[in-house]
Amino acid sequence: MDVSEAILHRRSIRKFLDKQIPLEDIIKIVEAARWAPTAVNRQKTRFIVVTDDDLLKKIANSAKIVFYKQKHAAQAAAMIVVCLDSTAWIEEVGAAIQNMLLQAFAMQIGTCWIGAFDRDFVRTLLKIPHIYKILALILLGYYSENPKPPPRLELGKIAYLNKWRNPILKPEGSILPKSGALSIFLTKHLTDTESQLKKSPLAEPKE
Ligand SMILES: Cc1cc2nc3c(=O)[nH]c(=O)nc-3n(C[C@H](O)[C@H](O)[C@H](O)COP(=O)(O)O)c2cc1C
Repeated sequence: MDVSEAILHRRSIRKFLDKQIPLEDIIKIVEAARWAPTAVNRQKTRFIVVTDDDLLKKIANSAKIVFYKQKHAAQAAAMIVVCLDSTAWIEEVGAAIQNMLLQAFAMQIGTCWIGAFDRDFVRTLLKIPHIYKILALILLGYYSENPKPPPRLELGKIAYLNKWRNPILKPEGSILPKSGALSIFLTKHLTDTESQLKKSPLAEPKE
């Protein structure tokens, strides 16, 4: 699968089928994390793959207690608990997890990154040493739903060219509220931006 396709079409899955995932496929997903970048290549992230039914139920319940809507945790065929040595750079976890989400998606395995769960409970249950922070649970499972992509901010609102708040692309459509101080601020901001865009051949797409 093309990387761009995986990046664009991967979604958080919250409805899983009742079907086991072969362990070798889960290992392939964790292997993707192993190849993520780490600061000074120190590789301080640790992954606990949970496939045992009893453990899965207990962890899912701990996620539901923290956030009542989290029923999907109980449907996961497996979970990956992501832990990081507290002396390491937290950024490493994001890179490792995204690699796993994309690898799983390419294998038609659904994932959901879970941040809301009872870390103390999971620490005790899985005997995770206190030197490790427990950063995330990754739910894994086959799925048949095809969730719509949740909205994203326009690129011009989050990516700037050469200076802060200089949108790399013009906003799509109007984002101006009808009245108020925000409107005045945005009008000025957009006027500045327009003139910046005109000066920049990269930002101004050719018609
Ligand atoms: C740090 C982090 C914590 C998250 N925690 C949860 C969670 O506890 N429960 C959940 O259902 N989704 C969770 N998500 C998934 C986000 O809700 C989801 O990525 C976001 O809505 C965008 O949807 P998408 O992944 O389909 O593009 C989390 C994502 C991240 C990055």
